[in-house]
Amino acid sequence: MRIVGMDPQLYASMESRISRRTYTAPPECARLEELQRYSEELNTAADGAVRIGVWAEGADEVFGGLTNSYGMFSGVQAFAAFIGRMEGDERKAKALCGYYGEQFVLKANARGLGTCWVAGTFDKGMAKKIAGVEEGEKLVCVVPLGIVPDSFSLREKVVKGFSTARRRKPLEQLLRNPEELAAAPDWMRSALEAARIAPSAVNLQPWRFTLAPTEQALTVQAEGRAEKEPVDLGIAMAHVEIAALQAGVQGEWSEEAGAWTFRRA
Ligand SMILES: Cc1cc2nc3c(=O)[nH]c(=O)nc-3n(C[C@H](O)[C@H](O)[C@H](O)COP(=O)(O)O)c2cc1C
Repeated sequence: MRIVGMDPQLYASMESRISRRTYTAPPECARLEELQRYSEELNTAADGAVRIGVWAEGADEVFGGLTNSYGMFSGVQAFAAFIGRMEGDERKAKALCGYYGEQFVLKANARGLGTCWVAGTFDKGMAKKIAGVEEGEKLVCVVPLGIVPDSFSLREKVVKGFSTARRRKPLEQLLRNPEELAAAPDWMRSALEAARIAPSAVNLQPWRFTLAPTEQALTVQAEGRAEKEPVDLGIAMAHVEIAALQAGVQGEWSEEAGAWTFRRA
């Protein structure tokens, strides 16, 4: 597992990214091509466990005609699909979709494109057809890609509850033992802050962290419903590692019974 094409923009993207649901134009060709190349690099890094693709046709059918009030996408003309290889450990495959998919989302955001992780409010059958999902594969999420207006549309405000501020739980609520925070090194605090602002389905923020400051390690686990659907977990893991790298800290992930530990190398 690794972060592909790490640069300060990827780090800055974690702060500036916000889900967008109203699109005014497709991405420029050069941008789409760049993202296509990046998705290939991610697929190589994922070693067959994840397949990310970018499509500029049929997006209106994938996101259009929805009556579900949670979704409400408009003007989508291009999208990415995150597909997991489900032979073996399904939970791990979903976590990896989150981990590599979020790198893609952050790169797209860094290139000025609007994005939104979408697991439910889209035409799955149509997306699977366009993405050519095969047996043994599962379409985990799609992400619209495109130019978005600077300000939020009324429709977006309704979905977001009229607040564009990022609403997140305080860090203490995400730690199993908040007192561990006092001993955490700077890189670990930065990694936790980055994970805190990560996107999650219905903004549930289902991550719980356990720290081992003396061992320079932290463990993250999904809670509740997210235990079975650990895409959110993988997204937070990407945020942890990008913040660590930005702080000059390299590390490795290891997994045990659904709990993932990042340990400084
Ligand atoms: C795995 C995942 C699935 C999501 N599915 C949907 C969806 O089906 N429809 C939608 O409108 N937003 C969806 N979202 C977007 C979340 O609602 C959003 O990330 C969250 O409310 C936090 O807001 P922010 O992304 O603006 O920081 C999803 C996000 C994640 C991470």
